[in-house]
Amino acid sequence: MLLHAEMRKQQKNFPLQIFASDIDENALEKARLGRYSAEAVDAVPEQYRRDAFGPVDGHFLVAKHLRDSIVFSCQNLVSDPPFSRLDLVSCRNVLIYLQSEAQRKVISLFAFALVPGAHLFLGKSDSISGRDDLFQLVDKDARIFRRRASAKPNITDFPLAPSAETRAAPRGAMAAGAIKPLSLAHINQEVLLEHYKAAVVIVDARGKILHFFGDATRFLQLPTGEADLDILAMARDRLGLKLRPALHRVTDGEAMAHIHDVPLRRNGDTFRANVTLRPLHPEGWHEPLVAIIFEEVDSSGDEAPVNTELGRDEVVRELERELAATKNELQATYEQFETSNEELKAANEEVMSMNEELQSANEELETSKEELQSINEELTTVNNQLSEKVDELGTTNNDLANLLNATPVAVVFLDQNMRIKRFTPKATDLFNLIPEDAGRPIEHISQKFAGVNIVDDARGVMAHLNTVEREVHTQDAWYLVRLLPYRTIDNRIEGVVAVFQDVTMHKVRQRLAITALDIMRRPAIVVDRNRSVVQVNESAREMLGYGHREIEGAAFHRLRGEDWNRPALRRLLDQAFDGVAGESPETLRIASPDQGEVAYRVRVTPSTGDAQSVWFVIVTLAPQDE
Ligand SMILES: C[S@@+](CC[C@H](N)C(=O)[O-])C[C@H]1O[C@@H](n2cnc3c(N)ncnc32)[C@H](O)[C@@H]1O
Repeated sequence: MLLHAEMRKQQKNFPLQIFASDIDENALEKARLGRYSAEAVDAVPEQYRRDAFGPVDGHFLVAKHLRDSIVFSCQNLVSDPPFSRLDLVSCRNVLIYLQSEAQRKVISLFAFALVPGAHLFLGKSDSISGRDDLFQLVDKDARIFRRRASAKPNITDFPLAPSAETRAAPRGAMAAGAIKPLSLAHINQEVLLEHYKAAVVIVDARGKILHFFGDATRFLQLPTGEADLDILAMARDRLGLKLRPALHRVTDGEAMAHIHDVPLRRNGDTFRANVTLRPLHPEGWHEPLVAIIFEEVDSSGDEAPVNTELGRDEVVRELERELAATKNELQATYEQFETSNEELKAANEEVMSMNEELQSANEELETSKEELQSINEELTTVNNQLSEKVDELGTTNNDLANLLNATPVAVVFLDQNMRIKRFTPKATDLFNLIPEDAGRPIEHISQKFAGVNIVDDARGVMAHLNTVEREVHTQDAWYLVRLLPYRTIDNRIEGVVAVFQDVTMHKVRQRLAITALDIMRRPAIVVDRNRSVVQVNESAREMLGYGHREIEGAAFHRLRGEDWNRPALRRLLDQAFDGVAGESPETLRIASPDQGEVAYRVRVTPSTGDAQSVWFVIVTLAPQDE
């Protein structure tokens, strides 16, 4: 109604198809009729009412142009195949009937049914069950949503065939074999108690014979052609014509129907019969059955055969009665035909809409198939890339294994729980390790150096993410230990790396240098590029009056006893760090506790003649009078 009004307002006219579905056949039946009371129609605003309804027999009928744009169909939202390519779905106050899982499924189904950008109208208490990936909120109060273009409803959940409940079951379909013989015998007995000497036939609503009781062949005959248990086909003479409307009346709710005094012929004899039809409602049977009781009319009191006894007027009256009865039958047949026709039309509409749905489902499947194909191609590419990466990884692994085996540096990799992950062969010089120790806590492994708790240091590194350096020595070597966090490529900390660098030779050289200085008679001071004192020999320490370890690290220009900052001395040092040895033109006068003041000549010697690598300079003092 609203859509038609809007089309008129916008002066547009395009084909409009509305699929109106519900699980409830009765509701659909009412809707199909489109017949409303005056009170109901009063609730519709005036501007729509006149165009949408027309008065018929004190009621109002939906206008034909509206009715023609609607196809009614019985559909269970949860289990029947969905519609598709819809521009609008209005589903108000239905989701509340469903469990939350079914609600999610139905929302996904709506996303499937709607074209991208189309709208979904829900009821006040309905929600899209958190499926924000499928729908975008347009109006919160009105509960209007827009189907996202990117929505990917999971179509594997959807039913592709109608469910058993809503599949169009043939009306009253029931296999004759399904009837319980015992209960039918019981029914027959009851009927026969009332109608002694009668033949009884039980039929279903369409007239299909389910059971005989007594000799029914007097009233029925076997039809020729295809075997059929249709009572209307088997009834003798004109009885079939009278039976049809009577059967309809009884199945439509009449308590009893009678056909009186029907003339019948059998084996050349004519006799008359009364027929009574009674509805039966056996327990557990979901459609009415009908008992048809045939009784032969007792004609023993008649004086002469029926036909010969009738006078001319009587014959005319008889014929008129038959004509009137035939007219009634014809009218009933016509009405029945009309009803069947309506039903066929409705069924046809359903089949058509089903067909359209199947077609669009088929198209969707085609699209999905193409999408799957392209996904497959992408997967093949990704797979190739992956196997290249695996090859690269293999090579890197080999390189790494060779590097670890060949390196002269001892390295131990620990995980976050201080368990050994990996170690180089050189690490066995520092720990009592065997290859099977990978995976064991480092605490369980005895170490060959003392004085340093490697586990505490490693835990500290894990906690503060810093680097810790220590010097340790075993019985025959010195090592510089460096502990640092183990960082993955994506910058996660997954443990600690302990690197042990053999610095034995360096230590030996250092000791040698110190010893050499000490055995020199003249005072000697070693100065680094920062002009800090790195080392002094005993003679210099005593001359300047410093205690042990007191002088190392002190600024050369601030040493005691003299002005070590004089320009001539500074120049001499600068020159020495440029690789040129030399002697100061000035003497230094230094008072020592045991010798008194002595004048010294100062000589500077760079550690090497190469200006680029002069790491330190040795300043020696020689008494002037020597
Ligand atoms: C409260 S009425 C809402 C009617 C209408 N949409 C409105 O807002 O006024 C709920 C309707 O949903 C139907 N229904 C319930 N479960 C259904 C299902 N699984 N599939 C289709 N219809 C269903 C009922 O038969 C009933 O007609």
